[in-house]
Amino acid sequence: MSNYLQTVESVYEQAALQPDANLCCTLSPVWNLPDLHVPRIMLDMNYGCGSTVNPRDLKSGDSILYVGVGGGLEALQFAYFTRRPGGVIAVDPVAAMRDKARANFLEAAKINAWFKPEFVRILDGNALNLPVESNSVSVLAQNCLFNVFVQNDLEKALAEVVRVLRPGGFFATSDPITPTPLPEAFRADAEARARCLSGCQTFDEYIATLVAAGFGRVELRARFPYRVVTPIEYPSLPEAVLLESVEVVAYKVPDGFDGPAVYTGRTATYIGADEGYTDKAGAVLRRGIPVDVSDAAAGRLGRQADIVVTGATFHARGGGCC
Ligand SMILES: C[S@@+](CC[C@H](N)C(=O)[O-])C[C@H]1O[C@@H](n2cnc3c(N)ncnc32)[C@H](O)[C@@H]1O
Repeated sequence: MSNYLQTVESVYEQAALQPDANLCCTLSPVWNLPDLHVPRIMLDMNYGCGSTVNPRDLKSGDSILYVGVGGGLEALQFAYFTRRPGGVIAVDPVAAMRDKARANFLEAAKINAWFKPEFVRILDGNALNLPVESNSVSVLAQNCLFNVFVQNDLEKALAEVVRVLRPGGFFATSDPITPTPLPEAFRADAEARARCLSGCQTFDEYIATLVAAGFGRVELRARFPYRVVTPIEYPSLPEAVLLESVEVVAYKVPDGFDGPAVYTGRTATYIGADEGYTDKAGAVLRRGIPVDVSDAAAGRLGRQADIVVTGATFHARGGGCC
């Protein structure tokens, strides 16, 4: 195993034994859902950088693979929707983290009448070699783990995601990103990498890596400030950097009419004299009604005088015409 992966595992072994409020630490609120009660220890072990759970994306019968279980906060929220033994499989290579998650699920069962610990099956497993059959799950989620991987390991991990997802299934992912490439000396800091700070890609790199892995449709759910890293704690940085976090859903589907369809919250509205406009992809834009479009379609449609396109909000809700 590479040295940096050993550092990652030892950081999370420690974080399993002693909750670490400064590790990753998003203050993203947990979903408030009827009868969902999250044990305090899971909140203290929120080592994510966003949310990968979104009721809008989930449907009954989903089978979910959660990679990097942490304290179990998100696996519990996914189990809220699946509610059957093994409906969520959670993998983690760190034995202490798996033990802690098991203990936390016992706590969760005490305060959630609907939940049984066997709803989440915890496996010893690694993102780089998932212990799961090909084409076997409809949803795969990871939160704040993949950013720790160097590029070739990241590509391996994404190839594993694509392998185990069923056609049509989706990858829910959240990671920090950086406004400009981080200095090499900081990137080489294995401890900062393990703590989800120095391995970040830029936004464009993040999306390009997902597209290159084979996802035909990528939707930006959210993008928000995550952490400011400064030369005070990291002298290898020449100046402070504001890292952001993204929440993305990427579908294992073929490319669209314009190639891979990346939705960043852009819309197109037909404002011409007719009732509507049928675009080359066959989608109909009704006059005056904004429709979500991919970045590529926005570029194509925006060249027409009778179509108004809007910029990225980084909040695509799903759906859209093209
Ligand atoms: C940043 S924490 C995120 C935990 C959880 N996803 C959350 O949102 O709270 C990373 C998790 O991934 C686990 N992990 C570390 N290396 C891994 C690997 N190679 N494959 C899968 N999980 C790994 C760690 O033990 C830890 O539980």
